Amino acid sequence: MDASRAPAFSGLVVREARLDELDSVGSLLAEVYGEYRPRFPADAWERYLGEIVDVRSRLADSVLIVAESEGQLVGTVGFYPDASLSALERWPAGWASIRTLAVLGDARRSGAGEALGVECVRQARAQRAHAIGLHTASFMTAATRLYERLGFRHAPEFDIEIGEMFTGRSLPPDASWQAQAFRLDL
Ligand SMILES: CC(C)(COP(=O)(O)OP(=O)(O)OC[C@H]1O[C@@H](n2cnc3c(N)ncnc32)[C@H](O)[C@@H]1OP(=O)(O)O)[C@@H](O)C(=O)NCCC(=O)NCCS
Repeated sequence: MDASRAPAFSGLVVREARLDELDSVGSLLAEVYGEYRPRFPADAWERYLGEIVDVRSRLADSVLIVAESEGQLVGTVGFYPDASLSALERWPAGWASIRTLAVLGDARRSGAGEALGVECVRQARAQRAHAIGLHTASFMTAATRLYERLGFRHAPEFDIEIGEMFTGRSLPPDASWQAQAFRLDL
C-alpha cells in the first residue's frame, strides 16, 4: 500500500470468523449488499441476497474471513481454497476463488478491503493455487479498482449473466447485467 497515505486503521485484524460471529457477518453482508437492491427484480433480489447472507451454507467449502477494528467487525470476505466448490460459478480445477467481499460504509477507504483481498491472495499462494477467480460488476466500481490494484484482470471467458447465476434463468433485458469475471494468475 502507498506509504505516503494517512495511517490506515490502527490495529486492524484480519482473521477467520468465529462461529459465534456468523449472524453478525450475515448482518454486515445484508447491510453492505443492500445498496445493490435497485439493480434486481424483486424475486431475483431475494435469491441473490438470501444466498449472500447465508454464511453457514458456505462454511464447509470456504474460509470465512473477517476484518476487525477496535473490537468491531468492519468487513468480511469468503475465500474458497477449491474454487470448483463455489456452487454458483464454474472455475477450473486448481483455482481458488473469492466471494462476498464487503466493508461497512463507515469503515471504507482505510485499507480494510485491500487487507481482506491480500489475505486471500496470501492463502491462495500458500496452497499453490494456479489462479484466483472472482466475479464482480461494472457498477461495483470501488471493488473493481481494488481487484485491479491487487493484479486481477478481466477474464471475459468466465463472465456470467447474473440471472443465470442466481435464478438459473435469464433476467428481463432491462434488469440483466453481466457478473464480470476477474482472474489473478499466481
Ligand atoms: C469494495 C470494498 C470492499 C472496498 O473496501 P474498502 O475498505 O473501502 O477498500 P480500501 O480501503 O482497501 O480501498 C478503497 C479506496 O480507499 C483508498 N484508501 C485505502 N486506504 C487509504 C488511506 N489510508 N487513506 C486514503 N485512502 C485510502 C484506496 O486507495 C481505494 O481508493 P480507490 O477506490 O480510489 O481506488 C467496499 O467498497 C464495499 O464493501 N463495497 C460494496 C460491496 C462490493 O461491491 N463488494 C464487491 C463485490 S465483488
